[in-house]
Amino acid sequence: MTLAFESVAEARAWLYEQRACGLRIGFVPTMGALHEGHLDLVRRAARENDLAIVSVFVNPLQFNDPKDYAAYPRTFAEDVRLLATAGCAMAFTGTLAQFFPHELDAAGKLNAAHQVPPGAAALGLEGAMRPGHFEGVAAIVDRLFETVLPDTAYFGAKDYQQAQVVLGLARRRGGPRVVVCPTVREASGLALSSRNARLSVEDRQRAAQIYQALRAGQAAWDAGVRDADALRSSVLLVLQRTPEFRIEYVAVRDPSRWTAEEPHGAMQQAVCLVALWLSGVRLIDNLRWDAPA
Ligand code: PAF
Repeated sequence: MTLAFESVAEARAWLYEQRACGLRIGFVPTMGALHEGHLDLVRRAARENDLAIVSVFVNPLQFNDPKDYAAYPRTFAEDVRLLATAGCAMAFTGTLAQFFPHELDAAGKLNAAHQVPPGAAALGLEGAMRPGHFEGVAAIVDRLFETVLPDTAYFGAKDYQQAQVVLGLARRRGGPRVVVCPTVREASGLALSSRNARLSVEDRQRAAQIYQALRAGQAAWDAGVRDADALRSSVLLVLQRTPEFRIEYVAVRDPSRWTAEEPHGAMQQAVCLVALWLSGVRLIDNLRWDAPA
């Protein structure tokens, strides 16, 4: 059974009691509309800790498009039902005002004094395409960490830059331990995402080409190609075979030295990141080439 609280104060009080008993807490922050990718994180949190805790909060601070925020699915009861199958001890939700009781201005924006810098990993790509997004993510993740005080928090590798932002944030605030878990994919290779539900059957087949493109880059890397532009072109070539894609970016980065700008020349390590639109749905994916899949 999964306990469910619809207020931050209740969740905080319950968590205080669990910590007082010395229980180890694994935490998975989410925005709900849960799928197998989230449940995978929750199962791992449950395996590695005494309690797996999940937050379900559609955070307005990280949406740069109010229409996207309004349309985001809110399915708390269904989410709790799914979480019970994955070993989640407690799930909670709340309101922006409950998370930030003294920090919001009249327009519901965080006061400047309470903003949490997202760090260098927020520069470029998602940070450039979605202004304010990582500032909103950093603010809520920081507050969620403060609320739950987890020993370990679990994030998916699919949101590559977010995971780097959170790792930096956790380092600067002195915890918690952050575990970044591999992307869960459909048999076709399509990365699981709440947004996939908005794709037709044909579009899902098309979207699987994103992974094929990333794998083409992997094949080039494995064959010894190290030039950033050549690697990028090998991915682009596959994506361009699907005219329905509206590509936002195909980027190669050295994961040990994040830069807003595209690197040129030989890479020692490489992660490839893709963002594109398909039938009005924005999809992102990435693949680290220099590490085993
Ligand atoms: O990845 C998400 O679902 C969100 O960005 C997160 C980490 C829960 C913060 O709102």
